[in-house]
Amino acid sequence: MAQGRLSFYCSAQEDWCQLMARSFEESSGIRVDMTRKSSGETYAQVKAEESNPRGDIWWGGTGDPHLQAAEEGLTEEYISPMRDQLHPWAIAQAESAGNRTIGIYSGALGFGFNRDLLASNNLPEPACWEDLTKPEFKGHVQMANPNSSGTAYTALATMVQLFGEEAGFDYMKRLHANVNQYTKSGSAPIKAAGQGETTVGIVFLHDAVATAVAGFPVSIVAPCEGTGYEIGSMSIIKGARNMDQAKAFYDWALSAEAQSLALQVNAFQVMSNMAAESSDLAPNMDLIKLIDYDFVKYGSSEERRRLLEKWDNDVSRLPQ
Ligand code: F6P
Repeated sequence: MAQGRLSFYCSAQEDWCQLMARSFEESSGIRVDMTRKSSGETYAQVKAEESNPRGDIWWGGTGDPHLQAAEEGLTEEYISPMRDQLHPWAIAQAESAGNRTIGIYSGALGFGFNRDLLASNNLPEPACWEDLTKPEFKGHVQMANPNSSGTAYTALATMVQLFGEEAGFDYMKRLHANVNQYTKSGSAPIKAAGQGETTVGIVFLHDAVATAVAGFPVSIVAPCEGTGYEIGSMSIIKGARNMDQAKAFYDWALSAEAQSLALQVNAFQVMSNMAAESSDLAPNMDLIKLIDYDFVKYGSSEERRRLLEKWDNDVSRLPQ
């Protein structure tokens, strides 16, 4: 059995992170220390630790901050022998980033709403992004902060791609007027909707499905205008102290066996290994009107930084 330890930075949901850590420990004998943080937060941590890396592998979270890390040389080039088992979109992600990251799953953005709260507030069923900006939804919409959360950055970049930059920011401003809270983590708004703390949560559809499957009165909406999506990614941290262990995890995490673990924790993303098991409950990506999300552009250092700064200055400070 292999020896040693692995410092594992995880940006997927907590229970999936735990399961991946424990399962890898069991299959490899390598001791795993896991830290869970949202995508933007993990990127910031990896950046802050650049001269003295503490993490070895960063698994999960939206692709944009992984691409930014790749461009900034924060992650290590690696070509796994598992690569030919993956969907083309996962490999394209790697190729666009000099093989410093790779796709591990995919999922579309949308929103979910609490049916009981909608009815008790006499609100119409929202079907489109535009519906969420209507005055009657004031205080009823929750999303994450795009600085910390990859989900919310995907939402921001989606609006810019869907409507154009000016109209996209105008949309974010009108939405801001209805937002009751910007959470740190991307999936928090749908958990809050499940608990009846907000009517609508803007999240990845797979997270909304997971809340519905857990028994909460949540309905899922793929917005009528079309929507963006993520390529959840994985990267080896440059200068990792446990490089062999990081590569062992990387290869294992691309296997069908490791990716099929997702279903044990109701993680309904589309997995990147073509032979990974999928669930009938997972959102059907073929039925969702997806935009041609430009990962190279919106995952570039300059663009991600620029859009976040613009959102901070022009949107988040507006009175509500
Ligand atoms: O694991 C759930 C999930 O929605 C992933 O699909 C996604 O990559 C990640 O969380 C994003 O989390 P956050 O928005 O907190 O960065």
